[in-house]
Amino acid sequence: MPVVRGKIIEVLYSSSAIARRNLELAKDVAGRDYNDLLVVSVLKGSFIFAADLIRAMHDAGISPEVEFIMISSYGGGTTSGEIRVLRDIESDVKGRDVLLIDDILESGKTLKFTRDLLLSRGARSVSTAVLLDKRSRRQAELEADFVGFECPDYFVVGYGMDVAHAFRELPFVGVIRDDAEE
Ligand code: IMP
Ligand code: MG
Repeated sequence: MPVVRGKIIEVLYSSSAIARRNLELAKDVAGRDYNDLLVVSVLKGSFIFAADLIRAMHDAGISPEVEFIMISSYGGGTTSGEIRVLRDIESDVKGRDVLLIDDILESGKTLKFTRDLLLSRGARSVSTAVLLDKRSRRQAELEADFVGFECPDYFVVGYGMDVAHAFRELPFVGVIRDDAEE
């Protein structure tokens, strides 16, 4: 198992497995009847997934516009706290098909909030693509349209996802298992 910053990390989804899945997801997206597609990457966790997925989408023949939104997180696992937009998109979504990209769908609160916001601004449709779905943790009524992998209820890091701002750079998704021996 890889050791990074003194931690043993178990690989759950390798970079090659993710790359293969991204191609399949991009084909699924291409199979939809989207018109003038606007991709919105939910920062920060989705930046690597979004970067890879839009390039896979290019290979699948889609040319989306790409935007970024940053939504306040309410802290790991907590259910309280309001959700706010910390950094908004710049484009007008009125009448457009939007694809929200996020790293993990857990309670569903982040994506539901963001989807409802864009619908209230007049988006024609808002679909969602997530790399990982932790279905057992769902609270809001929301299913993603495109799911990379059904993920067990582990706290995962890598491929854009962090714990305390660390490990985003890992090319794979993993779980921190233990401290490595000195
Ligand atoms: P929710 O669906 O609103 O509960 O929030 C999902 C968000 O929580 C994701 O976009 C991640 O930023 C974060 N998150 C949830 N589970 C994990 C994890 O296992 N590792 C890192 N971030 C996570
Ligand atoms: Mg996030």
